[in-house]
Amino acid sequence: MGLTIGVIGLGRIGGFHADTLAALPTVEDLVVTDAHPAAIDATTARLSTARAVSDADTLLSAGVDAVVIASATPTHAALIDKAVAAGVPTLCEKPIALSVKDSAEVVHRVADSGVPVHIGYNRRFDPAMAAARASVAAGDLGFITTARSTTLDPAPPPRDYIAASGGIFRDCAVHDFDTLRWLLDDEVVEVYAAGGNQGDPHFAEVGDVDSASVLLTFASGTIGVVSVTRYNGRGYDCRLEVHGSTDSVVAGWDDGTPARNLQPGCGFPGGTPHAFFMDRFAAAYRAELTAFCDTVAGDGSPALCTARDALEVAVIAEAATRSATAHRPVRTDEVRAHHVTAQRQ
Ligand SMILES: NC(=O)c1ccc[n+]([C@@H]2O[C@H](COP(=O)([O-])OP(=O)(O)OC[C@H]3O[C@@H](n4cnc5c(N)ncnc54)[C@H](O)[C@@H]3O)[C@@H](O)[C@H]2O)c1
Repeated sequence: MGLTIGVIGLGRIGGFHADTLAALPTVEDLVVTDAHPAAIDATTARLSTARAVSDADTLLSAGVDAVVIASATPTHAALIDKAVAAGVPTLCEKPIALSVKDSAEVVHRVADSGVPVHIGYNRRFDPAMAAARASVAAGDLGFITTARSTTLDPAPPPRDYIAASGGIFRDCAVHDFDTLRWLLDDEVVEVYAAGGNQGDPHFAEVGDVDSASVLLTFASGTIGVVSVTRYNGRGYDCRLEVHGSTDSVVAGWDDGTPARNLQPGCGFPGGTPHAFFMDRFAAAYRAELTAFCDTVAGDGSPALCTARDALEVAVIAEAATRSATAHRPVRTDEVRAHHVTAQRQ
């Protein structure tokens, strides 16, 4: 018998996850829901095996083996709570919540419940990023001087999404914060962030920025450099560059890297630029969902991102948000002191 998986939220990523899940050999049935009937109809029209239900409560009592939460960010905390109360193993899209306080409260309830809850930081399943992490762990690069994580979106998401997203650090740069923390197996002690707005005035109207860079000082002394934007017209550019005292490695440089190389005689990269995160990370999303289903079926112990890992990422995002607003470095202990007891899983 294959697994029955629920999917809550069928927008950009939820619809994509439903399609990916439907094609996995370990998945037999899907039960799906969304707050908007049109999103449900679009999914069931594509996936004849997906069974639609009216809401999350109905879905969680429909005999699902596990649930993927891919609804809008402000709904995550309450839906994780519902899934945990129903005893249903959960993969929730990032982030857990908009505030560190709310994230910490969810993490404590998850820990008390014993129900497995994973958070969807999919870059952990990108083969080249995983290889970079293995190189760091093996000591192949010597000590790491600089680790650079870049996320350049080609165009902004809809205004409604931006308004509910929590801002570029909590919504977008969290991927880079998780990647660097996971890559280095190290904790951030200080954050300095700067942001700017040159695009749609809506970003400033909702207190957000459309582009930002962040310096992260790790406990080891490694400096993390994060660059993000909503306006990278040439395509979706996501890469990781790791420089050590004896060697350097990169992930995300391929023929689809959206940059024009002006070096004479060098034709790289020469392919069609990556259009968006769906094409750039399709394999990573599939690997993440496969790992989740395998762990639900008890067939493996893949290294999915835990809720406690995601809480540490939320602390970094909060420090970055404060730093960019106040124009000063912010120590992560300053954020933790308000909201959480520092504790690694
Ligand atoms: N891991 C990644 O690479 C990645 C990429 C994109 C988005 N995300 C995350 O996924 C989430 C969704 O992003 P998106 O781009 O798909 O947004 P979206 O706006 O396209 O879709 C969100 C969907 O959730 C539905 N929804 C809202 N409240 C609901 C509720 N209470 N119950 C059921 N459905 C509800 C909406 O109707 C909508 O269809 C966000 O939290 C975002 O941070 C992650």
